[in-house]
Amino acid sequence: MTLWSGRFDTAPDPDAFDFGISFGFDRALFEDDIRGSLAWADALGAAGVLSAEDTAAIVAALNGILDEGRRDPAFVSGPDEDVHSFVERQLVARVGDAGRRLHTGRSRNEQVSLDLRLYLRRRIPLLQEGIARLVGACTDQAERAGDALMPSYTHMRRAQPVLVAHFYLSHAAALRRDHARLAGAAAEADALTLGSGAIAGTSYPVDTGRLARALGFSRVVLNSIDASSDRDFVASFLFATSLAMVHLSRMAEDFILFTGEEHGFFGLSDASATGSSMMPQKKNPDPLELVRGKTGRAVGRLTGWLTTMKALPTGYNKDLQEDKEAVFDAEATLAASLRATHAVIARLTLNASTTEAAASGLLLATDVADYLTTRGVPFRRAHEIVGAMVRQLLAEGRDFSALSRDEWTAASELFGADAARAATPRASVEAKRTPQSTSPDAVRAAIAECRTWVENLPKPSA
Ligand code: ARG
Repeated sequence: MTLWSGRFDTAPDPDAFDFGISFGFDRALFEDDIRGSLAWADALGAAGVLSAEDTAAIVAALNGILDEGRRDPAFVSGPDEDVHSFVERQLVARVGDAGRRLHTGRSRNEQVSLDLRLYLRRRIPLLQEGIARLVGACTDQAERAGDALMPSYTHMRRAQPVLVAHFYLSHAAALRRDHARLAGAAAEADALTLGSGAIAGTSYPVDTGRLARALGFSRVVLNSIDASSDRDFVASFLFATSLAMVHLSRMAEDFILFTGEEHGFFGLSDASATGSSMMPQKKNPDPLELVRGKTGRAVGRLTGWLTTMKALPTGYNKDLQEDKEAVFDAEATLAASLRATHAVIARLTLNASTTEAAASGLLLATDVADYLTTRGVPFRRAHEIVGAMVRQLLAEGRDFSALSRDEWTAASELFGADAARAATPRASVEAKRTPQSTSPDAVRAAIAECRTWVENLPKPSA
């Protein structure tokens, strides 16, 4: 028995019907579906469409169904086409005709969009909490790193010395954008669809403004036709999760490299690494590799969903049912990846002597050029002079620290007795002047700012 069997004279072919069943996954919307139905019953009652007795009976029965589903998740199952059909079957079993009146003026088309909007609005804050926790771990590591130095890289070649703390905070900065992007997706989902009917609106005088407030929405959709097939909020959510995964993947890549033998900058904790079944010496960064690998899954969900949406004619189409598995999978992937990344990052140790050794040498060339520039040499000219020094030092297997006073003067008259002191990794970071730079003062302020950001986030209520 389906919600629509009255129109048909034969039972459905299982190969066709079972193909369309979504209850296996949309049962995740159980609580949201009941919440929406409770508010709808109340709105129909207030509009005089349902009697006070019917409204009271429906509300009591829906609350009973909700309690039972919460107590025993296995209760939320059966031969039903989808979660909406399940709830209605349970309702009719409890209150008969009153239950049959609940769907007055409402369609599953607006109901399923409503449910998914309610779902995302309660689940997105949990993902944001996972992001904030990882930002917190990066901030802790930044603090712990103190004034330790490491090389930064461009083109994967040593570029300039930076504070290790600055590097950790660079990842925190990207994650904070993900946090904001998820808030944007939640804001897009923040619109009531009820009152749209199947596509043309509803002919019952339902107060949609009141209904929106009751369900915690700040607005009502603009257009019932658009509302029946608008899943832009799903695409935005999948984009936000994909980009967050891309950031986790890049972070994973950095630490896979930097914890390996070739760099040896950081140490993986035994608690967040794995061994090899054959090579006893191995300590592998499996969790980071898996985060990097699962990023393909998240991006695939986004690509798949955009592909599903692109050719849909206006109005609800069953293709839209594909939205839910994409959302649930992307959400679960990001949630688990955030936890795994946190487990690794929070336990990393720093090999400061290795990072500091790697932060000195010819990567101070920019600072040497800056020295000349502050003494009036045009930067392009300074670049040439220092370039020639680098060429010679490379050929001799030396670096700036090995230059004698005479050699400095031979390169340029403008190099004074303090030139050698300016060409150290510590002087390099201390010379930086902008707030976003690796200057120790700026980084100290950035750690405090990041800490304040984490502490002032609203705590999820769910
Ligand atoms: N299971 C459907 C979905 O996920 C619910 C809406 C069904 N509406 C319909 N007219 N068949 O999209």
